[in-house]
Amino acid sequence: MDRFVKNFIGMSIVYLFIASIFGIVMLAHPSLLTMKFVHSHLNMLGWVSMMIFGVGYHILPRFTGKPLKSPKMGEIQFWLANIGLIGMLLFYTLGSFNPEVSMYKGLTAAFGLIEAVSIFLFFYNMLATIYAKSEA
Ligand code: HEM
Ligand code: HEM
Repeated sequence: MDRFVKNFIGMSIVYLFIASIFGIVMLAHPSLLTMKFVHSHLNMLGWVSMMIFGVGYHILPRFTGKPLKSPKMGEIQFWLANIGLIGMLLFYTLGSFNPEVSMYKGLTAAFGLIEAVSIFLFFYNMLATIYAKSEA
C-alpha cells in the first residue's frame, strides 16, 4: 500500500473521531449549532471523501489492471486535501466567532479553493488511470 493511501485512510479515521466530538458538543449545546458546517465537512470531506480517496487509489487501478497514472500527484493531493480542509474549517470557525473580521471569509474561501484543487487532482488522476490505453 502506498504511503499516501495509508495516510488518507488514517486521517479519515482521525476526522471521524473529531467530527463525532463536534456532533456531541452540538447536541449538548445547541447554541454551538453554528459549528454544523465544521462537523458536516469534517465528516463529508474528512471521513467520507478521504476514505474514498484512499480506498479508490488502492483499488481502482487494480480493478482496471492499470497502474495509477501518477502516485506523486496522489501524494500532493493528500497534502492539499488536508491543508485545504483544516484551513477552511479553522478560518470558518474564527470568522463565525469574529464576524467583523472580513479577512476570515476570504481565507475560508481560499482554503476551500485549495480543497477543490485537490479534488480536481483526484478527478484527473483517476480518470487518466481508468481510461488509459491498455498496453499491447
Ligand atoms: C457521534 C456521531 C454524530 C453526532 C452526535 C452528530 C450530530 C449532529 C448534529 C447535532 C447535527 C446538527 C443537526 C441540526 O442541524 O439540528 C449534525 C448534522 C450533520 N451531520 Fe452529524 N453527527 C454524527 C455523525 C455524523 C456522521 C458519521 C456523518 C457523515 C458521515 C454526519 C453528517 C452530518 C451532516 C452532513 C450534517 C448536516 C445536515 C444538515 O445540514 O441538515 N454526522 N450532526
Ligand atoms: C471544495 C469542497 C467543498 C466546499 C468549499 C464546500 C462548501 C460548502 C458550503 C459553503 C456550504 C454551505 C454552508 C452553510 O450553509 O453555512 C456547504 C454545505 C454542505 N456541503 Fe459542502 N463543500 C465542499 C465539499 C463537500 C463535499 C465533498 C460534500 C459531500 C461529500 C459536501 C456536503 C455538504 C453538505 C451535506 C452541506 C449541507 C450541510 C451544512 O450546511 O453544513 N460538501 N458546503
